[in-house]
Amino acid sequence: MDLTSITAVVTGGCSGLGYATARALREAGANVALFDLNAAAGESRTVELGADNTLYCQVDVCDEQQVAQAIEQVKSRFGHIRLCVNCAGIAPASRILNRDNQPAPLAGFQQAIDINLVGSFNVARLVAQAMAEQATTDADGERGLIVNTASVAGYDGQIGQCAYAASKGGIIAMTLPMARDLAALGIRVNTIAPGIMATPMLLAMPEHVQDALAGNVPYPKRLGLPEEFAALVLHMAGNRYLNGETIRLDGALRMPPK
Ligand SMILES: NC(=O)c1ccc[n+]([C@@H]2O[C@H](COP(=O)([O-])OP(=O)(O)OC[C@H]3O[C@@H](n4cnc5c(N)ncnc54)[C@H](O)[C@@H]3O)[C@@H](O)[C@H]2O)c1
Repeated sequence: MDLTSITAVVTGGCSGLGYATARALREAGANVALFDLNAAAGESRTVELGADNTLYCQVDVCDEQQVAQAIEQVKSRFGHIRLCVNCAGIAPASRILNRDNQPAPLAGFQQAIDINLVGSFNVARLVAQAMAEQATTDADGERGLIVNTASVAGYDGQIGQCAYAASKGGIIAMTLPMARDLAALGIRVNTIAPGIMATPMLLAMPEHVQDALAGNVPYPKRLGLPEEFAALVLHMAGNRYLNGETIRLDGALRMPPK
């Protein structure tokens, strides 16, 4: 995929892993569309990334109509969508029973599944429809690439992570069937399962907590960088034989119970 001539949709593109990916894509010459709830950040990120090649759309990834309208906006502004990177997500924590043996509110579990899993599927299905209508770009007949973001919690969820782990496990599980569904159209699907990454979410924690988290990582003994996530997205875009796969990006970390 020639990044100098493509347009990419990045959900959650106003912060953390999504923003780092949008920046790397812009540096590689791509147009980017940021689908994110945060309108204030959308405005400033658009300026930072260059308003001529950046479109911010205020979108809740769970909302069918908002996503469909935003995709139309991207198509009319840039003409096509070759890459979609799903980074929008939340990371709630709640034990199934609290200290008083009261059950976790069901709404919290449902919200994590809605935003992380249903939201990723919603954007993927509507972007795939747009990609299916586009011309192929190479001898292999490629039309596009969808990259979803899971988490190592999708494999080894910690205490309090039932909802988050289930949402991310769902993303890992749907990667292969989604790639199989879209294979005949020349649309690839891959997933990245990051470990502990230095995004605003993590950097807001006290330093001793960050140090403790980094201490569990075998090598390199530090938090992962958003730029390292972005580099893997760019590799996935360039490597056409990579399809239907989830790649852990975690410094060999296996999460302990807590
Ligand atoms: N940071 C980590 O250590 C880490 C590790 C593993 C997986 N992840 C996953 O990576 C993804 C990005 O995480 P991050 O650390 O960059 O988080 P972040 O909080 O920095 O960014 C998330 C972005 O998603 C947006 N967002 C949230 N809900 C949305 C919705 N319903 N619709 C549209 N936009 C929405 C937010 O406004 C925000 O800009 C998440 O899916 C997260 O679960 C992060």
